[in-house]
Amino acid sequence: MAADESPGMVLLDFIRYHQHLAGTKIGCREGDCGACTVLVGELIHDELQYHSVTSCLVPLGNAAGKHIVTIEGVNPVTGSGTASPGLTPVQKAMADAGATQCGFCTPGFVMSLTGFCLNDTEASKENAVAAIDGNICRCTGYKSIERAADKIVDLLKKRKNENILQFVTAQKILPEYFTGIKEKLQNLAAGKKTPALTDTAALDKRPHFVGGGTDLYVQKHDEMKEADIYFLFNQPGLDSIHKEGNKCFIGPSVTVSDLQQSPIIQEAFPSFNRYAKLVSSTPIRNMATIAGNFINASPIGDFTIFFLALDAQLILSDGKTKRTLPLRKLYKGYKTLDKTPGEHIEQIWFELPGKNTRFHFEKVSKRTHLDIASVNTAIFIKMNGDSIGRVGIAAGGVGPVPLYLQKTAAFLKGKNVTEQLIREAIKIMQTEITPISDARGTKEYKTLLLGQLIKAHFMELFPPLIFV
Ligand SMILES: Cc1cc2nc3c(=O)[nH]c(=O)nc-3n(C[C@H](O)[C@H](O)[C@H](O)COP(=O)(O)OP(=O)(O)OC[C@H]3O[C@@H](n4cnc5c(N)ncnc54)[C@H](O)[C@@H]3O)c2cc1C
Ligand code: FES
Ligand code: FES
Repeated sequence: MAADESPGMVLLDFIRYHQHLAGTKIGCREGDCGACTVLVGELIHDELQYHSVTSCLVPLGNAAGKHIVTIEGVNPVTGSGTASPGLTPVQKAMADAGATQCGFCTPGFVMSLTGFCLNDTEASKENAVAAIDGNICRCTGYKSIERAADKIVDLLKKRKNENILQFVTAQKILPEYFTGIKEKLQNLAAGKKTPALTDTAALDKRPHFVGGGTDLYVQKHDEMKEADIYFLFNQPGLDSIHKEGNKCFIGPSVTVSDLQQSPIIQEAFPSFNRYAKLVSSTPIRNMATIAGNFINASPIGDFTIFFLALDAQLILSDGKTKRTLPLRKLYKGYKTLDKTPGEHIEQIWFELPGKNTRFHFEKVSKRTHLDIASVNTAIFIKMNGDSIGRVGIAAGGVGPVPLYLQKTAAFLKGKNVTEQLIREAIKIMQTEITPISDARGTKEYKTLLLGQLIKAHFMELFPPLIFV
């Protein structure tokens, strides 16, 4: 439908206060609880794909031209146009497993699990539970919710060769009208016009660049409602991940989930999904861009640390001129960047790991999942025979900016890996960091922790090396 509201308004408010659809709940308004989860359907390479998002962080501008599915939209519609009182198999699984008590979180769980049914991932308990990693329940307890997830997995295992949409509509997981959505979105796409990133008139207004909005809508929620915004998700082609020779190029609207699904990234970093699961939750990863992670400039930004170790390069543009800047030179001080307000990240590129290279990422937080890091670190090594030919090492949570550990890397270069070498490297690392004591740990703890994580890098990458 056409909405006249400000494109900066969040989808959650539009759903509840303008559409009066009260099934989507408001909890934290910060992307943490999942009570506001909805599904977003969009055409990707002309294929209709759905993913879960937390509607409290989605600006209406990011919903434009897409199919937004709330809890009211999953039930079959009766002849009179109202939702039928019957339960979908997902809702029934939740009810039969006793997975709902007060019910406040239930619409969010149902939407995440319905999103899982629409995904092309393997029907396994592990994947079903991963799909609800952004949903919190305060009163039922998770075991019964897991049992509900088991029932859904059993149903999905019945799928043979039919396409997903055929299967989910046949099983009444979603109503029949979903089969006509692709055509509707194709018609909408044909009429859509978004200013290009080279449109200097649009850029001269110094808009807020919004990727997923998962930082901006937590930090500047009220300001964003009326702000002048450039919606990166609405510009075709900005979500590309491609290879040229041994370089990988990442567009400014590429999300963490896009990287997880990219064959280029899977091949280069076989453990990428394991690392990504330590970062936020499924609905946040579905929205969070890599460029947004860099520009947010959090000293503990996980993908900033990941790409710092790879010595990633940024192509910055103000619409008229472009320049290349190493990511490690972007950070001049706490949240101070070598970037003018009119400049945006047009592309990110890095050299793909190849023969004789090793890469590892470590993150420690108070909770394993859905928590920001106390300390995180990544390392990239290219071996030259038995010695370290090239090395990039980065660490977060140990200074006012994400740190590229220049001196530690210079010390390691050209040497053979031994227990003694790593111990000496850790001493050098300690001269490069300036951690402070805060809610995530004392400075002594963080210093010790980073040392242990550096040992963990080498134990992982150079077995059977151990530290006694
Ligand atoms: C519940 C929750 C959990 C989270 N957990 C983690 C976590 O575990 N680890 C972690 O690192 N982060 C975490 N985050 C933070 C956030 O998700 C990431 O930093 C994310 O990568 C930001 O991307 P975005 O597209 O949403 O940024 P946005 O909010 O859209 O933008 C962030 C900033 O970048 C600017 N920007 C975006 N794209 C560009 C561009 N191309 N050029 C110039 N400027 C640009 C925006 O103007 C803004 O200043 C979490 C957030 C939430 C809400
Ligand atoms: S209201 Fe909690 S995630 Fe949106
Ligand atoms: S059923 Fe009450 S919060 Fe989950």
